[in-house]
Amino acid sequence: MSIVHELKIAPSLLAADFGRFADAARAAEAGGAEFLHFDVMDGSFVPNISFGMGAVKALRNVSGAFFDIHLMIVQPERYVEEFVRAGADNVTVQAEACVHLQRTLAQIRKAGAKAGVALNPATPETVLEYVMDDLDLILVMTVNPGFGGQKFLPATLPKIERVRKMIAGASHPIHLEVDGGIDHETTTAAVAAGANVLVAGTSIFGHPEGVAKGIQVLRSAAPASGEQSAM
Ligand code: DX5
Ligand code: ZN
Repeated sequence: MSIVHELKIAPSLLAADFGRFADAARAAEAGGAEFLHFDVMDGSFVPNISFGMGAVKALRNVSGAFFDIHLMIVQPERYVEEFVRAGADNVTVQAEACVHLQRTLAQIRKAGAKAGVALNPATPETVLEYVMDDLDLILVMTVNPGFGGQKFLPATLPKIERVRKMIAGASHPIHLEVDGGIDHETTTAAVAAGANVLVAGTSIFGHPEGVAKGIQVLRSAAPASGEQSAM
């Protein structure tokens, strides 16, 4: 059963002005973005520290967007319930950070959120083989996690195609998200390979003509759904 989700834009707050998160969230929603992407970094899983549950909670009253929480932390199972209480709609854990991935995905769903798994560029999609029924979103990292403003890794494109094929065989709808170096050029290739959720920081919050223009440029760079190779 091949159920393909529509294209979604997920602005990454990591590229926004940290002193004006509420304005950034409002601008993203006004610009038509369906998701809001929160990059949670602990200085251990990745060599950077960002923000946590407090930022999610503060923006929950400001934005009606789908809150997409990307946990780049070790032992993420310790904080699942707190992020859901703060307002998370989806909680994504890194496959490399989970000793008991199936248990953690079940924990996320039990807490009331959608469950996602992120794969670093070097991690094969085969780690997902036995947990496809337990997840609602697969995040193929198109850069090594930890920083915004990095260059897209083209070697991840065949993996996106293979993940799209795995999703085509799944019993329920699953989002295919890409994250890192997403701009008007890489969007075309990533969506053609099968992605439907585009995370972007620099190309949205750093767009010279503003957030709404940044979102619109990505949306128009996406090929029409019939032009996707793996679907
Ligand atoms: C990196 C994060 C990304 C990052 C994307 O570890 O997961 O979400 O903020 O930023 P850009 O779009 O600037 O590459
Ligand atoms: Zn991210």
